Amino acid sequence: MDPIESLRTSALAATAAAEDNAALEEVRVLYLGKKGKITDLLKELGTLSAEERPAAGQKINALKDEVSSALAQKKDSLSEAAYASSLEKERIDITLPGRTPATGNLHIITKMQAEIVSVLEGMGFSPVEGMELEDEYHNFEALNIPSYHPSRDSHDSIYVSKDRLLRTHTSPMQIRVMEKIKPPLAIVSPGKTARRDAVDAKHSPVFHQVEGFFVDEGVTFGHLKGCLETFFQRLFGEKTKIRLRPDYFPFVEPGAEISATCVVCKGKGCRTCGNTGWIELLGAGMIHPAVFEHVGYDPKKYTGFAFGMGVERVAMIKYGITDIRMFYENDVEFLAQF
Ligand code: PHE
Repeated sequence: MDPIESLRTSALAATAAAEDNAALEEVRVLYLGKKGKITDLLKELGTLSAEERPAAGQKINALKDEVSSALAQKKDSLSEAAYASSLEKERIDITLPGRTPATGNLHIITKMQAEIVSVLEGMGFSPVEGMELEDEYHNFEALNIPSYHPSRDSHDSIYVSKDRLLRTHTSPMQIRVMEKIKPPLAIVSPGKTARRDAVDAKHSPVFHQVEGFFVDEGVTFGHLKGCLETFFQRLFGEKTKIRLRPDYFPFVEPGAEISATCVVCKGKGCRTCGNTGWIELLGAGMIHPAVFEHVGYDPKKYTGFAFGMGVERVAMIKYGITDIRMFYENDVEFLAQF
């Protein structure tokens, strides 16, 4: 076999087989290096006769060029392969879903309060926020609870000064609103309240109430009943019934305690309602003429009703929560359910 042809075959095969730059360099040195096989052939040209030399020189130079360009091509393709493999290694899988940051949710009491307010807003009541720190006049006096009144005992809360205390109910908002505007008015006022209560499953010294009141000419107890019936049906469902029983609050006359059909047993009687089928939910009544006199309304011209409810209590009934302390213990697993 022609030695040039066999060098060509082996050089091209070695070039093709080189797996990386180092192997390729070895191939280059082996054939084209100073002592390489093709270089040796060129050196042997001198031993040929003058006639043979040009043709052989051309052939060997052509081989040298061919192998050089095969080596260069291979070098290119090796670096492309290296690039491709590095791309593959550093690849980012953009098809993985991202990690959503943990988000919080509104507290159940905030939500319950908003729901109560929103139902009443839908019935025409305008929301007004009050202040947590009240004076004795708005919290008691103007609501017909003079300083000697026994009901102050159960209400007394934290006094920050002789005259200022954490409000014990949202009813002072009746006074604050009526001092400023004239009837007709329909107001709903939610907020934080405090009382001198020891903590147990049903009591918390800080809790929340929603107050509602409506004043105009000719407002009757019938309006109060119809309004609260509609309210509870929208909150607890259409079939809910309400029960009114006489109760006493100094700022209403007559006063009533309102119960709704138990949401757990639908009125059949169960543990939640103490087997009565009814759940007491709110205090209400016709605004006392003495209250109207405090705000400068003519009690012969205007009548109105007011009601107040505990937000915690409504939430406990609605969601079957048996201990009020659950709301305040920051147990995220509990709170995240709502
Ligand atoms: N303020 C009363 C309470 O805290 C509730 C109430 C409001 C009663 C309005 C009658 C009318 O118990």
